[in-house]
Amino acid sequence: MFAITNSVGLFGMNAFPVTVEAEILRGHTQFDISGLPDAGIKESRERVRSAVSSCDIPFPTGRVLLNLAPADVRKSGTSFDLAVFVALMQAMGVLPPRLPESVFIGELGLNGTLHSVRGTLPMTMLARSQGFREIYVPAENVREAAAIDGIDVYGVEDVRALLSHLLGEYPLSKTPCSPIEPGRIVQDILDFSDVQGQDKARAGMELAAAGGHNILLVGSPGSGKSMLANRLPSILPEMTRAEILETTNVYSVAGLLSPEEPLVTHRPFRSPHHTVSAAGLIGGGSIPAPGEISLAHNGVLFLDELPEFDRATLEILRQPLESREVTISRAAGSASYPCSIMLVAAMNPCPCGYYGSTQKKCTCAPKQVERYLSRISGPLLDRFDMHVDVDPVAYKDLSSKEKAEPSAAIRQRVEAARSRQKERFAGTDIYCNAMIPDHLLREFCRLEPDAESFLKAVFERYSLSARAYSRLQKVALSSADLHGNPTITRQDIAMAVQFRGFDSKYLR
Ligand SMILES: Nc1ncnc2c1ncn2[C@@H]1O[C@H](COP(=O)(O)OP(=O)(O)OP(=O)(O)O)[C@@H](O)[C@H]1O
Ligand SMILES: [Mg+2]
Ligand SMILES: [Zn+2]
Repeated sequence: MFAITNSVGLFGMNAFPVTVEAEILRGHTQFDISGLPDAGIKESRERVRSAVSSCDIPFPTGRVLLNLAPADVRKSGTSFDLAVFVALMQAMGVLPPRLPESVFIGELGLNGTLHSVRGTLPMTMLARSQGFREIYVPAENVREAAAIDGIDVYGVEDVRALLSHLLGEYPLSKTPCSPIEPGRIVQDILDFSDVQGQDKARAGMELAAAGGHNILLVGSPGSGKSMLANRLPSILPEMTRAEILETTNVYSVAGLLSPEEPLVTHRPFRSPHHTVSAAGLIGGGSIPAPGEISLAHNGVLFLDELPEFDRATLEILRQPLESREVTISRAAGSASYPCSIMLVAAMNPCPCGYYGSTQKKCTCAPKQVERYLSRISGPLLDRFDMHVDVDPVAYKDLSSKEKAEPSAAIRQRVEAARSRQKERFAGTDIYCNAMIPDHLLREFCRLEPDAESFLKAVFERYSLSARAYSRLQKVALSSADLHGNPTITRQDIAMAVQFRGFDSKYLR
């Protein structure tokens, strides 16, 4: 009997419909799968064979042929196992030959239990958009799939339970849809109230959070750079529904969701070690998997001790930082992952750490300082909208009994600034000031006349690059948003300029 059933394939973030056809013919006993399967799928035969025997059903004799259509698209992974099993049961006459409204995904274990698969969320979204009525997924992935409404979701523990459900004996219960809710506020353990003094650096972090700007923290050892960066998530605005869905999709494909945390509802904060490889940072593998930059999508990528990173590795960040998307090409095809991130980096100004410090004398030779800074290319430095010199915390601040302003208060101002941006960018795919493309700069960054003349003076004085010029305006716009100014004032430009110290201090 010829049987056909539905499944979903995945390449990178892209899910695509796959139909599994099965037929049992007379002839020598054999079991073949065609349709560009990779080695993992070929091994599927053994898993399916033993799942069948776990149901106390004898494996059919004769030629068992399976085909994954479309046959010209490469398929990989283990998520077709369940559909292969179902198609085989249909061909054997155990199940009806057509189940046109159902989709099956899942990896089989030897005893017929289901193992979790990557990408359940994008696969479920595809199944719904294709108009299927129900989807069967491994029980471990069911909460991920249940984020999507408009399709019935069933979690399957093992194939025996599925068979008796499909035969109408013991129905499985539908998993109720649990729609995505914007992140509930949880009290972060790391709070800005721990950071004493450091008014300028705190203001810098707030401004960066308000506009989603990339920020570089430069300062001597122990000045609190890592401390400040680690507290950034506590002042960032809540994720929107769209952002939660986008980021969760990346984590689903990376296989990083768990039944306890099926959705990413808080902005990710990734801080890879400086020994991270290019593939680890940007993504890679024979079937390209997302890297740190994509796991930080809609959140923060923190590179602590920036000059310690391999220079070539850092350079490949340049393009995805601008385009907010990374494309990885491999023999098997190319995959794109989103990477709309806030880049935060920290570094000492020189090998000894005290160049430019007012407290301790730098013992490095000028050449050493130069060599140290040259590990970071000019174009990469240009990607930072803001540079903050973090001075060592003053004793009177450190010994103060008074608690500094807590994150919750700062976050409120940040949220207010972001809601101005939401209005400004309504109907576009821009979320924050840092994302304004250069050709829209004039439209969105409106300057008061004296701000305009001040900007001109700054540009000439520091001979800024074109990129620095546009970044300065975007940061000034965030300052205006924080202060409730409808147009950019001279003070807003001044605020932005004080966070471009790198242009003047170190680079000449
Ligand atoms: N402003 C501050 N208020 C309270 N404690 C501080 C402050 N700055 C630094 N500290 C203390 O100093 C410690 C070291 O800070 P941190 O690790 O952030 O420094 P760093 O600038 O990252 O140094 P390094 O360059 O060595 O990495 C912190 O764990 C914290 O206990
Ligand atoms: Mg540090
Ligand atoms: Zn030094």
